[in-house]
Amino acid sequence: AAAAPRVPEGTPQVEPLPIRQRPRRNRRSPVAREMFAETVLTAANFIWPVFVHDGEEDIPISSMPGVSRLGVDTGLLRGVEEAVKLGVKSVVIFPKTPDELKTPTADEAYNPEGLAQRAIRNVKQAFPEVVVYTDIALDPYNSLGHDGIVRSDGVILNDETIHQLCKQAVSQAEAGADYVSPSDMMDGRIGAIRDALDAAGYSNVGIMAYTAKYASAFYGPFREALDSNPRGPGEDWVVPPDKKTYQQNPANWREALIEARLDEEEGADILMVKPGMPYLDIIKGLHDQSNLPIAAYHVSGEYAMLKAAALNGWLDEKAAVMEALLSLKRAGATVILTYYALQAAKWLKEDEA
Ligand code: PBG
Repeated sequence: AAAAPRVPEGTPQVEPLPIRQRPRRNRRSPVAREMFAETVLTAANFIWPVFVHDGEEDIPISSMPGVSRLGVDTGLLRGVEEAVKLGVKSVVIFPKTPDELKTPTADEAYNPEGLAQRAIRNVKQAFPEVVVYTDIALDPYNSLGHDGIVRSDGVILNDETIHQLCKQAVSQAEAGADYVSPSDMMDGRIGAIRDALDAAGYSNVGIMAYTAKYASAFYGPFREALDSNPRGPGEDWVVPPDKKTYQQNPANWREALIEARLDEEEGADILMVKPGMPYLDIIKGLHDQSNLPIAAYHVSGEYAMLKAAALNGWLDEKAAVMEALLSLKRAGATVILTYYALQAAKWLKEDEA
């Protein structure tokens, strides 16, 4: 028989408190805790973001230890194979465009033989069941680094940009994309892209809208990965150093409701909030206001923070990452885009075993 429990010497003897509610009762055992868990993370919720380049090698990204740009014909397919084995069957593709293909109007975005289009075809050919998401915005192809076309006075042109985005979306759909994901934050782009896809015969291709995308400092490592920082061509051209005239102000929550209403009316299938952890209130808010699935993007800077702390031995990486991802889901995100997707899926499998 187990020894009777003992208390430390000096523990005061007290009468039981006259309380009827003791919430700790439901936390007493692992079985109870599992029973009463309101949120359960699964690999099926993850979308794995992958950086691809036109080369053979995996090229490590220094501000994202453990993440590399993958070769479009090599590492990408190895990576997706591993992802599928782990139960992660959704990917989103980000191409690292060579500098010589970047122009101020970003026409490479709709090149049928472009890197993104090749990546989509490669994945769909090798793994037809994998759901492929793409990014729609001009920044990987724009010599000025912005998501839209920049005028000489620094204004980012809205409608002219959307003209390009529609061509980009149709070209990605032609390559086999299941969902296109406009991340550019131009006004009216969801409706225009919906119409363009439908007119081209792609009414089954979905739209995951970056609905509430904030002008955030947490995208820094991503811009290193794609070498896509806004930059100027010369003295006579103004290029805003940030994206604050189109991405949302981090001070605002009600503004996200305007974006959500528009995206929903214009035909979005999924509403995304980005970044993730600093914006849990926005995730919760959109979840409560809309009936569409909500996605959260756990962005490059969030990955970098957790990784840096883990590498320094300052955080228990697995526990901290799983808590972060669980919190995104608890706040209302059904879909989670995360660079930790494969690692987290591995940890989930480990826990099952
Ligand atoms: C580009 C785009 C960005 C991200 C996704 N799509 C960067 C930006 O807006 O500058 C960021 C993703 C991340 O940081 O992980 N339109």
